[in-house]
Amino acid sequence: MRSRARRWRCLIALTGLTGLGAASLCQAQDRLLPLAAVRSGLEFAGPDVKAMQADVQANPAQLWLAQGRALWDAPAGAGQRACSSCHGAVTRMQGVALRYPRLQAKTGRLFNLEDQVRHCVAEQQQAPAPTFESDALLALTAVITQASDGLALRSDADPALQPHLQAGAELYQRRQGQLNLACTHCHDRHWGRRFYTDQLSQGQPNGYPLYRLEWQQLGSLERRLRSCYVGIRAEPPDFGAIELRQLSLYLNWRGAGLAVEMPAVRK
Ligand code: HEC
Ligand code: HEC
Repeated sequence: MRSRARRWRCLIALTGLTGLGAASLCQAQDRLLPLAAVRSGLEFAGPDVKAMQADVQANPAQLWLAQGRALWDAPAGAGQRACSSCHGAVTRMQGVALRYPRLQAKTGRLFNLEDQVRHCVAEQQQAPAPTFESDALLALTAVITQASDGLALRSDADPALQPHLQAGAELYQRRQGQLNLACTHCHDRHWGRRFYTDQLSQGQPNGYPLYRLEWQQLGSLERRLRSCYVGIRAEPPDFGAIELRQLSLYLNWRGAGLAVEMPAVRK
């Protein structure tokens, strides 16, 4: 009973029915998935996928990582500057991927890593920003994320982020689509159970962008989330939509402590 009461307080806070403000946002005790139970999607994958991810040579995501390393050092745009001209070696990006999504200082917009890279290409290099899901953008975000391989996901305590985190948590609970299901129904309540031919994972974000066999290429977390919307017959938000960034923020809070896996493979 007590935990149910807590959960209600949390959900009431999430739906904005209370005047208590952001301070009442889901606290540790409100976790539907306890931190001690958090597990990477890799643990739910079949032996073939696990082997592919583990084999550094055979892992198909290596193609994008190689492209990303080349792009990092490639002069581009009006001033013919490379990412490395300003940022040095890409290994210096250690820890950076963990800071996203975050608020961009100048505009206050919620930026994910893709947004940041596109911003740097457009503003700093003065070259055309790579489109969402282009090989160039996936390759660059992959190498930047690789610099954080093995580091733990964490949740940023910046109070200015709280409304977005709250919005993400609310989206996570919201029933949607013709199947009238919320993320929580599959990934909090039924993880570990069979879903058609596969095991449902907890829907963790720690491997993205990753190589998915169904896509035959690398894809971003946004692309994966859009697949889940389609899976429940709901209209997916467009690439770049704030909802996907808010969900991603919530997923980092929910999966805090999980190690970043780069390069990762899924079915
Ligand atoms: C009908 C069940 C269902 C619902 C509802 C659902 N998903 Fe998924 N989700 C899946 C399946 C199936 C997969 C692929 C296999 C797996 O990882 O469980 C998946 C995968 C994921 C992954 C990738 C996990 C990994 O390790 O690669 C994330 C992240 C995710 N879902 C988040 C969400 C979010 C956020 C929502 C709500 C917008 C949502 N899902 C709604 C079924 C669902
Ligand atoms: C002319 C210098 C310059 C170039 C070239 C440049 N950047 Fe940046 N970058 C910056 C500055 C300045 C910032 C911080 C302010 C901002 O966000 O614009 C930044 C911030 C970043 C951040 C966030 C770092 C953090 O600590 O959060 C990432 C990631 C990034 N850049 C990636 C890239 C990539 C990828 C490229 C190449 C495609 C690139 N940058 C090219 C100047 C540059």
